[in-house]
Amino acid sequence: MVGRLAGRFVGLGITGSIAAFKAVDLLRLLRAEGADVQVLMTPSATRFVAPLTLAALSRRHVDAEVLDLLPDGRIGHVLTADAADAVVVAPATAHWLGAMAHGLAADVVTATCLATAAPVVVAPAMDGDMYAHPATQANVAILRDRFGYAIVEPESGALASGQLGPGRLADLGTIVDAVVAAIGDRPVRRPDPADRPPRLAGAAAARLARDGDDLAGRHVVVTAGGTAEPIDPVRFIGNRSTGTMGVAVAEAARDRGARVTLVAGMVTVPLPDEVEVVRAETATAMREALHGLLGTPGGGPGFDVLVMAAAVADFRPAAPADRKLPRTEAGLRLELVANPDILAEIGRVVRGLDEAGAAAGRPFRPRPVLVGFAAETGSLARAADKLARKRVDLLVANDVAEEGSGFGTPTNRVTILAAGGAEEALPLLAKREVAERILDRVVAALDARDAAAQTGPDEPPQETSVP
Ligand code: CTP
Repeated sequence: MVGRLAGRFVGLGITGSIAAFKAVDLLRLLRAEGADVQVLMTPSATRFVAPLTLAALSRRHVDAEVLDLLPDGRIGHVLTADAADAVVVAPATAHWLGAMAHGLAADVVTATCLATAAPVVVAPAMDGDMYAHPATQANVAILRDRFGYAIVEPESGALASGQLGPGRLADLGTIVDAVVAAIGDRPVRRPDPADRPPRLAGAAAARLARDGDDLAGRHVVVTAGGTAEPIDPVRFIGNRSTGTMGVAVAEAARDRGARVTLVAGMVTVPLPDEVEVVRAETATAMREALHGLLGTPGGGPGFDVLVMAAAVADFRPAAPADRKLPRTEAGLRLELVANPDILAEIGRVVRGLDEAGAAAGRPFRPRPVLVGFAAETGSLARAADKLARKRVDLLVANDVAEEGSGFGTPTNRVTILAAGGAEEALPLLAKREVAERILDRVVAALDARDAAAQTGPDEPPQETSVP
């Protein structure tokens, strides 16, 4: 399912409580919901949990010094405050609650909360007597009643002091729920990712950032390989697809943080680890598998992205034999019937259209991003027509007759066509690199879709230019 915080930018403020270590898991949970997270720490929090851990998990520099500027001269906490859809402070210490209640902006967490118009969620954690003290309670009341912050009350349980009582950081799932509730259906505050603090810099960090997270919280379904249409129990009609391109897309999506389901036809390359594999060796089985994954318009789509890299047979034997056909001198005549165009069908279903293209049901909200492939020989002239006919957002066309492109090669030269009419011819690249380029466009399409969903129009804007 789509993460509840997909497309959102969340500031995670961590202050110096023993419970600070739990913020690592809270960060993971926020990211699993699809949030882009900027970690903010007070100096004492950095003594409980290493900023490096949080930087690696968030793919962003941790902002822990209120007087430090970003490498480009901008002020980190102001940038985070402006762009954040929510700020969550967990754990919040007694000291921090006091500073916040009185607007003492000596650390980035307080400074960000003061500077933001986004909802703020605060989860205190401390010794039970400290929490019960009238000073703490008065500060909590100011945050809640005067500032409108959502307070996620601490729970009772064993405390670090050895005591038993209230003061333990609330359940992390409850804190995530509070962030989701606080944002509600507010529009994304700064839909342009360029308005957010920069991601980690440097070659290795850039790789980490690119591979690490921009599909976190997304469910990506990839089909790969050819289909095998049975003639009899041992023979089939197949094609030369090996599954290399689809597997490369599945691996790249996985490495960029997506949950990946690989619908595998006849694949001769090794299948990737850590992706869910669904076997579907015929066009009919592939169609069923995809409809099973699709979800319902009311319940939302079961996936965010479909990359249809499989070479689906257009025809299948009309009546496959139950038993192996014996050899005869007379030869064999096969009658073939057309397979459904799976991608075109999904393109219609997600828009609530019938076969004639007329409105027939509820469109999916949000609508999954659809990517098709077009294997051509000689010219890509038919690709634009395929894109329109199958109602896909992106069509990756390649000339399979060209040297270094097509079936079983480690490389591919493709042209990516976008629904708005833009076209980009890529050079000959390793298939993994082609996969990354496709996913760059998929991420942009998802961001545009989510921003549009927050700001109004029903139908995601069509991409008019390929970045
Ligand atoms: N596809 C599909 N179902 C089919 C045939 C193709 O979903 N029965 C998908 C492929 O996975 C691919 C895209 O449609 O993403 C284009 O496939 P291609 O074979 O190039 O296009 P066709 O529509 O079959 O057109 P033609 O055979 O006329 O070239």
